Amino acid sequence: MMNQYALVTGADHGVGFCLVADLLERGYFVFAGRINPEEKLLEQLKEKFPDRLEIILLDIGSDDSVAEMKRIVSEKVPYINLLINNAGILGDISKSIYDELDFEEMQQVLNVNALGTLRVTNALAALVMKSNQKLIVNISSEAGSIGQCEREGWFAYCMSKAANNMQSALVHNKIRKEGGKVVIIHPGHVATYMRGHLDRDAKITPEESAAAILKLVLDKELPVTEKPLYLDYQGEPLVW
Ligand SMILES: NC(=O)c1ccc[n+]([C@@H]2O[C@H](COP(=O)([O-])OP(=O)(O)OC[C@H]3O[C@@H](n4cnc5c(N)ncnc54)[C@H](OP(=O)(O)O)[C@@H]3O)[C@@H](O)[C@H]2O)c1
Repeated sequence: MMNQYALVTGADHGVGFCLVADLLERGYFVFAGRINPEEKLLEQLKEKFPDRLEIILLDIGSDDSVAEMKRIVSEKVPYINLLINNAGILGDISKSIYDELDFEEMQQVLNVNALGTLRVTNALAALVMKSNQKLIVNISSEAGSIGQCEREGWFAYCMSKAANNMQSALVHNKIRKEGGKVVIIHPGHVATYMRGHLDRDAKITPEESAAAILKLVLDKELPVTEKPLYLDYQGEPLVW
């Protein structure tokens, strides 16, 4: 069988780390984008999979960092089967329209969640389209749904995920004509440290979320659709 190559962003911990671990178990060669070299989980995984895990320093908010990642990946492999844009940040979730909003922080959230995902896809789309799988998975959120929006705040996060969904549609429109696909996934309410502390109200663990996501996008043939599929981790469609 031909080698299968995947790249996952935001892989130091949380859903991204579990996606990397699962993909390695499934036999993929995985590039794991990491932002914090102080974290140790990926290094521990590297001991188990020394030949199939490459850890790359990657800040998806930075043009230079993404360009460097592209250089490393392009020198190493001829194609990428699966790109998972997972990295994301939350920003403020406490303020409403009557509060003083921090627009600089909001720009940072938009730069990472919306533009960062596009930045990485822009760097790797040609490599993805050289593979037989041609699959891009964008980890978005139910928070990006305009149709079912009930929050009164979380401005940057919700806006960035809605924009992430839009860029997914634009990319999908282009690559589906060449056999490619973008799938947008809401990973569930996952017990990670996105809020700065372990989210104890969460419904599922990152291990469960990652396993369900990969089952969904890899284990059965996804239908070819005009718009990207926008699904939760259990395969339930979300309102755009
Ligand atoms: N947890 C949930 O309930 C939930 C719900 C809906 C959607 N999501 C989405 O699921 C994805 C994974 O989130 P998670 O829950 O696993 O949270 P997480 O544990 O915080 O994971 C996100 C990862 O992205 C990294 N990251 C932050 N900024 C980055 C940048 N500029 N470049 C590259 N990496 C960066 C984070 O690093 P640092 O921690 O060092 O900043 C972290 O390793 C995110 O896109 C999130 O929006 C999560």
